[in-house]
Amino acid sequence: MKLGFLASHGGSNMQAILDRCADGSIAATPALLVCNNPKAHAIERAALAGMPAKVLNGKTHPDLADLDAAILQSMREAGVDLLILAGYMKKIGPQVLTAFQGKILNIHPSLLPKFGGHGMYGMRVHEAVLEAGESESGATVHLVTEKFDEGPILQQAQVPVLENDTAESLQARVLEQEHRLYPDTIAKIASGQISLS
Ligand code: GRF
Repeated sequence: MKLGFLASHGGSNMQAILDRCADGSIAATPALLVCNNPKAHAIERAALAGMPAKVLNGKTHPDLADLDAAILQSMREAGVDLLILAGYMKKIGPQVLTAFQGKILNIHPSLLPKFGGHGMYGMRVHEAVLEAGESESGATVHLVTEKFDEGPILQQAQVPVLENDTAESLQARVLEQEHRLYPDTIAKIASGQISLS
């Protein structure tokens, strides 16, 4: 199985997945990173892991449909079977969505369907969890569909919300679980324990 990544920033989740491909506990090969942000740290992480990386964005492709087609063509040329969103801050275009239907994964830093949807990303998610007085939060790996954050849930991990939590401390606790949950889900897909049909 070949993995394609889309990322915009740090790529710490991508790193956790690359590490588990390298140690053999995910039976898959990292094939390509496509990044919209030329300064993303994820590009250095890809280089260190020996994975090709490409920058595709509104500058390289001003037309959205062209950009969508270029991402699809790059992933196809790299032989990608499973597309992994790893902190990708752009919308996935309809051509990629159709071609990779049921084969696009995302991780969201809350227990979806709670605290998902438009505007719910980054620190805002954790602030909203604290404002709502939740006693637990967590992370969700789900399939990507045209409905933002609403695709079928594959796996979740819970963490407690502690009394003195700030959005930052809660984010750190959730991120630790993301780094375990995302590779674990991909390992199960690669080994057939989770079937994407
Ligand atoms: C994570 O919090 C993830 O849940 C969200 O974007 C963030 C990416 O972080 N989708 P990183 O780039 O993997 O460090």
